[in-house]
Amino acid sequence: MTDQAAFDTDVWTLTRFVMETGRKAKGATGELTQLINSMLTAIKAISSAVRKAGLIHTFKQRLLFAELFFPSCVLVTSWFDFMLSQGKYVVCFDPLDGSSNIDCLASIGTIFAIYKRVTDGEPTEKDALQAGKNIVCAGYALYGSATLVALTTGAGVNFFMLDPAIGEFILTERNVKMKSKGKIYSMNEGYAKYFHPSVNEYIKHKKYPEDGSAPYGARYVGSMVSDIHRTIAYGGIFLYPANEKSPKGKLRLLYECNPIAFLIEQAGGLATTGTQRILEVQPEGLHQRVPFVVGSTDDVNEYLSFVKKFQ
Ligand code: AHM
Repeated sequence: MTDQAAFDTDVWTLTRFVMETGRKAKGATGELTQLINSMLTAIKAISSAVRKAGLIHTFKQRLLFAELFFPSCVLVTSWFDFMLSQGKYVVCFDPLDGSSNIDCLASIGTIFAIYKRVTDGEPTEKDALQAGKNIVCAGYALYGSATLVALTTGAGVNFFMLDPAIGEFILTERNVKMKSKGKIYSMNEGYAKYFHPSVNEYIKHKKYPEDGSAPYGARYVGSMVSDIHRTIAYGGIFLYPANEKSPKGKLRLLYECNPIAFLIEQAGGLATTGTQRILEVQPEGLHQRVPFVVGSTDDVNEYLSFVKKFQ
């Protein structure tokens, strides 16, 4: 049986998928496979905690959590400034994205990206300050009506759904590709007073298209993983641009924007700050923010045409 046929007929668990991918990679030592498996175990632990609404509250518990699941890598998260350790890889990790949604029980998520270290010896900040184009693996987990993982190792995006009966993620969609144009825009329009005129012109165009076409629908959960997952699944555009109150935007480059931009590009979409491809931004700080616009190619290009008009 060919590999492709096996892929079509068998049930593929995420563990099996990761091990197979690792086995086929040239020069693989198994360290990345192990790291991705640690991430998946961490995601299962978070999923279980989220379902029980018993989240990891104290700093001490968070530290234990990080040491338990990531003992041998450089770890950058929204929880800590920088955790140094040994190992070949850097993990940038937002364990609970959309945390302001926890108390109202809306969906939240986990986002991560893995890079190879660029220095030898003791890890330094330089290892973590890499452009997103160097990512070797990125993904998110969405704790929605089911728990889903979207994963890429640079060869397309695959979706896996957690089967709670067996505690395993099962491959449900492979090589996911986004529509080139959607019908939905997603942003916090409450900031309209503070947006640049180009952004407001763009929104106006989505609501009152001059060419007589139907207006776009608006959807905004305010939990990025949910908004991004819908954008990948249905097409359209997600925007968190800069505004007068947040001149650099809100979302963090290392553990929010870069992993999502990598996934979106792998699914055939685009990700931009408005003036630069996200994956080419050279990070200057671990918790740096950037304006973030991602989605279907035609939609993002249309947004960029509005930015250009105002330059
Ligand atoms: P968080 O780190 O407090 O969870 O903030 C990140 C979240 C994203 O999930 C979401 O896209 C954005 O913040 C929503 O921000 P706003 O409330 O300004 O619309």
